[in-house]
Amino acid sequence: MPDITDTTWWRSAAIYQVYPRSFADANGDGTGDLPGITGHLDHIANLGMDAIWISPFYPSPQRDGGYDVADYRNVAPQYGTLDDFDDLVHRAHELDLRVIVDLVPNHCSDQHADFQAALAAAPGSPEREKFIFRDGLGDDGTTPPNDWQSMFEGSAWTRITEPDGSLGQWYLHLFDTSQPDWNWDNPAVRADFEKTLRFWLDRDVDGFRVDVCDAMIKAKGLPNWPYRTKGVVEPVDGVTPPMWDQEGIHEIFHQWRAVLDSYEGVRILCAEAWLPPQRTARIVREGEMHQAFNFAYLEQLWNAADIRATIDTSLAANDAVGAPTTWVLSNHDVMRHASRYGYDGPVELESGVGANDPQPNRELGLRRARAATALMLALPGSAYLYQGEELGLPEVTTLPDEVLDDPVWERSGHVTRGRDGCRVPLPWQQAGSTFGFNSTEAATWLPQPDYFGQYAVDAQTGVAGSTLELYRAALTLRRELNLGAGEMRWAADAAANVLAFTRGDLHVVANVGGEPVALPQGAEVLLATADLEAGSVPADTTVWYRA
Ligand code: GLC
Repeated sequence: MPDITDTTWWRSAAIYQVYPRSFADANGDGTGDLPGITGHLDHIANLGMDAIWISPFYPSPQRDGGYDVADYRNVAPQYGTLDDFDDLVHRAHELDLRVIVDLVPNHCSDQHADFQAALAAAPGSPEREKFIFRDGLGDDGTTPPNDWQSMFEGSAWTRITEPDGSLGQWYLHLFDTSQPDWNWDNPAVRADFEKTLRFWLDRDVDGFRVDVCDAMIKAKGLPNWPYRTKGVVEPVDGVTPPMWDQEGIHEIFHQWRAVLDSYEGVRILCAEAWLPPQRTARIVREGEMHQAFNFAYLEQLWNAADIRATIDTSLAANDAVGAPTTWVLSNHDVMRHASRYGYDGPVELESGVGANDPQPNRELGLRRARAATALMLALPGSAYLYQGEELGLPEVTTLPDEVLDDPVWERSGHVTRGRDGCRVPLPWQQAGSTFGFNSTEAATWLPQPDYFGQYAVDAQTGVAGSTLELYRAALTLRRELNLGAGEMRWAADAAANVLAFTRGDLHVVANVGGEPVALPQGAEVLLATADLEAGSVPADTTVWYRA
């Protein structure tokens, strides 16, 4: 059982993201489920993780992989039942794993009862006021209320047909048409989400990852904004985009924090906000959220100077407000880092790669990814890891067009493939047509490539040098040496494209493509992501050692 008197667990935690659709399928229908997660929690505990974060498993039409929530306080039938959820939490806690669930407060599904009620009600009604409905522009209202673009391409507005059959108002959706944005200026919306927080806290969850939390408040008057947002959002000519990072979000976070703090132990809030560290640091000030994803870190290319600058900026920004820094390299929205680093030069994080696109160098990508992970796990703070990265899984770049599920594929007119390549169901065993994802061999919801078997958990367990054993060793050492806490000190004399620092008496050298770095005579190597060459750390390799 996690120790409820430990009030700082989250400051240094290693947190494993489970994407439930693709983790493990216990009922054999081709889609993962909650009993599948429960049945494989020992895999996560044995890796040396402290917590799991589970992406949405709520009732949903799955137009955006469950981030289109139709009912915030229930479990979707394809994932199981509330009892299954309770079993999962119970088993996780037995294994000393804390459980973080996903809260999606910016928008819901158009199938949510409140949105259906809003469609059935009149303009200006309390039902409509829960969302962002506006009249269109022009004499006949055919022009959207402003020029905002959806994150999934196309306009951020959709026009409805009123109950009397006439063409009517427009509603705002920063994402898919099926994901109407809530109106967070409305106290009724706030009250309902507080109920949701309490619902899951009462079921003993240890925290929430808060989806798109920086978009919940929009600038008054919804001023036009012609720019398309991609990646970490920065002001343009000194102006903050009217849909991101508005001052009003902080009041909400304070209210939520008070709710969490009224529960036993420490329950945490983690912000998903694609903002620079200086801005996410404002979300983790005293009395607000506990931590925020560090997407600036994820965005860095394999280049020592840039990585170092981001580490410094992140630590400084978070230290200034007394919050821990977090680190992340992969999640369900971006190309897996084992493939990202297999390109030289920038890649589109969320656009997807098809069979006709330039392919990543898989061997180089994995070598760099292992080095990048060992670097990340040596940094002070909390680390988020995404299911399958412990297997060295590459992005799947061979998905046929007809299986693509990301809404961006349709919305872009079949130009942008989207994020399915990092969401392919996990291989647990080398044998079998679904590589152990289920036992019925029912086809997986996204097809697994033939080569997935070589990455399977059973193919790597106990195999020296495998990526799985590397993760296990790194996470175990990280815990033993308490690397999540404390300070780091850069070495004074690192060569070009090398990152070198100490954590107490531990030395870390990440050779980010520089000349081989000689280790001191008699160095005791604790971890190496590739073989040393004549006692030196070769390019694209990270080593932890004691001098
Ligand atoms: C977040 C989720 C992403 C989803 C989007 C809209 O960025 O991580 O998967 O599509 O929010 O909910």
